[in-house]
Amino acid sequence: MSPRALLLGLALLAGCSERPSFDPARVNAAPIGKGLPRGFLLGTSTSSHQIEGGNENDWATWERASFPDGAPHIKDRSVSGPAADSWNRFDEDVKSMKQLGSNAYRFGVEWSRLEPTPGAWNAEAAERYRQWAHTLRVQGIEPMVTLHHFTLPNWVAESGGWENPATLDAFERFSGRVAELLGADVDWWCTINEPNVLAVFGYMDGVWPPGKTDTVAAAQVLANLMEAHARAARQLRALDTVDADGDGKATLISIAHHVRYFQPASGSVTDVAVSGLTDAFFNESVPEALRTGRISLFVPGSVSLQRDIPGLKGSIDYLGINYYTRDHIRQDTSPSFSHKYVPAGYDTNDLGWELHPEGLYLLLERFANFGVPLVVTENGMDDRTGERRPYYLRSHLYAVEQAVAKGVDVRGYFHWSLIDNFEWAEGYEPRFGLFRVDRGNAELTRQATPAVETFREAARNLGLTPTP
Ligand code: FCB
Repeated sequence: MSPRALLLGLALLAGCSERPSFDPARVNAAPIGKGLPRGFLLGTSTSSHQIEGGNENDWATWERASFPDGAPHIKDRSVSGPAADSWNRFDEDVKSMKQLGSNAYRFGVEWSRLEPTPGAWNAEAAERYRQWAHTLRVQGIEPMVTLHHFTLPNWVAESGGWENPATLDAFERFSGRVAELLGADVDWWCTINEPNVLAVFGYMDGVWPPGKTDTVAAAQVLANLMEAHARAARQLRALDTVDADGDGKATLISIAHHVRYFQPASGSVTDVAVSGLTDAFFNESVPEALRTGRISLFVPGSVSLQRDIPGLKGSIDYLGINYYTRDHIRQDTSPSFSHKYVPAGYDTNDLGWELHPEGLYLLLERFANFGVPLVVTENGMDDRTGERRPYYLRSHLYAVEQAVAKGVDVRGYFHWSLIDNFEWAEGYEPRFGLFRVDRGNAELTRQATPAVETFREAARNLGLTPTP
């Protein structure tokens, strides 16, 4: 057991005796949004594959297949298919953003669409993305663009995906082309979404493409993703030289890092140490690599990896934080998610993820001294009726405001998600959208859920002007 893991575990345990507990009466009474700093980005977040529709990539291929025991890869047996048809309904989506009063939007560009075969470039798709970014800028909505959000073109996946060093070369070229394409309107970049989640689900737990259960491969992929980020960041800095919003910076770059609040299930040495190990692998290894330029991964009995990554140190201008939940951790020897649990009686979303706004506060506080500002690049809940989302949104914005009040430099909050979308291995049953997408209707009509009003209230308190 590494001493560092034990220390992290003990810190987590200590955190539970002094952890804040938000009083719902106070959360409800707070003038939400008032405590956010000037210039704060209050927006929503989506990804290309989950909303565009009509994408042919490694995920679309995976959706049509099954596990060796015959179980479908996608729990509700859906395929992404038309998704929310945002490829054709972008203007409608912008209307929803305006209705929210949001001043920022994080969206992805789909590599398989732009480069459907090696070296090809789909000029029509490129032009559409360029128009999207430009429209957002003209509408006063700051675009934040994600270059990689879990999906790969089939030709990349078939040649070994993130295990193949050639993928890093191809992604670097792709990043440079996107920088040239969108740089005039885009300053905020997110190179890679959740490298830790992709490594664990795709290569350790085998529940996402490419379906591997190989801890060594997972660690190598995580290291490769960090290198891919560093190389993409270099391209963005070299090729996006236009300061689109006039703040003196042409590029603001990060990854979107998924963090979870890991709670040791008891004070036993094993629970504490395993929580610490999980935290070290899942929450800490990525930021630590960004801070030092060296990735260091440890899984007892299988992985001890250290790699210096040129250009990684100093490659980010902000740290993107995706936060959804807390996990309780009991004795286990793997940093995979297989043995995390939520004790009976705890409040959860409809996917069984614990609702724990205090965890967002604690994690923002943890990364406060990281050396760059923080941006919450994702946060949201699966709420199939839409009735509980207002409190979720309110309490998580409250968490951000509490962190800001403590002096943490948080520059933005992007709610996941603008609209209901294809939720990876879960399919279409989960509903994360502030706007509900009616799947029974060919028009895929968007309908405001009650949390839209909560978002508008925060926007108004921040000095923004939602459309009626
Ligand atoms: C995050 C993903 C995002 C979405 C939400 C619910 O981990 O980045 O694509 O699926 O979870």
